[in-house]
Amino acid sequence: MKRVKVKELLNGYPAGSDVLVKGWVRTKRESKGLVFIALNDGSTIKNIQIVAEIPRFGEELIKDISTGSAVAVTGRLVESPGKGQSVEIQAENIELYGKADPETYPLQKKGHSLEFLREIAHLRFRTNTFGAIFRIRHAMAFAIHKYFNDRGFYYLHTPIITGSDCEGAGEMFRVTTLDMENLPRKENGSVDFDRDFFGKETNLTVSGQLEGELGALSLGEIYTFGPTFRAENSNTPRHLAEFWMIEPEMAFYDINDNMDLAEDFLKYLIRYALDNCREDLEFLNKMFDSGLIERLEFVLKNPFQRITYTEAIEILSKAGRKWEFPVDWGRDLQAEHERYLVEEHFERPVIITDYPKEIKAFYMKQNDDGRTVKAMDVLFPRIGEVIGGSQREEDYNKLLSRIKELGINEKDLWWYLETRKFGTAPHSGFGLGFERLLIFITGMSNIRDVIPFPRTPKNAEF
Ligand code: 4AD
Ligand code: MG
Repeated sequence: MKRVKVKELLNGYPAGSDVLVKGWVRTKRESKGLVFIALNDGSTIKNIQIVAEIPRFGEELIKDISTGSAVAVTGRLVESPGKGQSVEIQAENIELYGKADPETYPLQKKGHSLEFLREIAHLRFRTNTFGAIFRIRHAMAFAIHKYFNDRGFYYLHTPIITGSDCEGAGEMFRVTTLDMENLPRKENGSVDFDRDFFGKETNLTVSGQLEGELGALSLGEIYTFGPTFRAENSNTPRHLAEFWMIEPEMAFYDINDNMDLAEDFLKYLIRYALDNCREDLEFLNKMFDSGLIERLEFVLKNPFQRITYTEAIEILSKAGRKWEFPVDWGRDLQAEHERYLVEEHFERPVIITDYPKEIKAFYMKQNDDGRTVKAMDVLFPRIGEVIGGSQREEDYNKLLSRIKELGINEKDLWWYLETRKFGTAPHSGFGLGFERLLIFITGMSNIRDVIPFPRTPKNAEF
């Protein structure tokens, strides 16, 4: 017999059918010679109820079927007389695949803290909460590919191991096969990376953008979607050392086209979640964040507010607040400033453009004022920056002089610079932090709870 998933059984599968279902026991209760098992197979947040006559299967087997154990059940799907479910299965045969000793299986009672569940990340998938989160994560990944594919963007695979630092922040994880105990040295005492695997210094990528630009300047519109790595020592609920980023890059887009795409893309993803992940969102709304669905719908209704960095500084200076970090033209905005603009001042997502060039990366297009660049950050309620992007500097001389000004080794970027020599064109792009988006969509408050196995300072378990 072919196995049927619980989701299908609960979605109008014909009553009276003989079915085979497989899954993990969520709860079990006994009453008047019958045992009621709530079985979940991950296909939906809902369980199917299995009803079994205890004498028919024997006390021994029934005892071994406990919370967490894995079983296969064949039986008849019937309309359920009980409350809470439309159909149930009258068990005819039960095969026990794996027991879960009630003395040691950690997920006995409901209501474990998220912190505790992080410590058992290998088992937390089996909770309703993490089932919902990771189904939503999947749906969002799928929606991202669908969005771009439907619009003629190509999925470009950029390298994980790189020899350049896209963001120039020096927050990279080194990749090497050199013997740490016995490093080869040059005459001047520095490490001899000629002897390393690639014959040069290499790191895990912080962003696929630079290579993405090479693709866009021929294929037209591309996007990347892959893991990126940052060795920044930020122990916050919004930072990971390994996170996934989506980076579209488009030829012939200026910064306004870039903002339009970012806004349309984010709204599409939120709409997709509301339309396709309803049950999981309703569960999270009920259990963690009663404003979740309302907030998602609210973002869809309103155009994002677009202001310049200079305007943002003015608003913040006049806010009459005592800021923890000073507000001064030239300083980067901190989470408290971003959240004030979004949550209190405008009460909607905000896109800030034209930042001072000193606080942004070398590749951004320089404005005529000589002080600012065509950067754009999209700020969301509760999380602050969800997207960072810009129009790119396509002028060879301006780009080269900025690279020199910042003391970046131009030899590492010879290939990037060549695209500005041969058929350069205006282009733009941005990076969406996948987990930041997921915090917003799931209503979780810690980024460690929206990625299966978080990597953060001092933590690489599993
Ligand atoms: O603003 P960032 O650093 O921009 C870039 O990397 C550009 N190369 C993107 C581009 O223009 N193609 O990072 C982009 C986004 C941020 O807005 C944030 O959402 C996310 O990536 N992000 C992080 N997410 C989790 N943990 C971290 N440590 C993150 N750092 C950035
Ligand atoms: Mg940024």
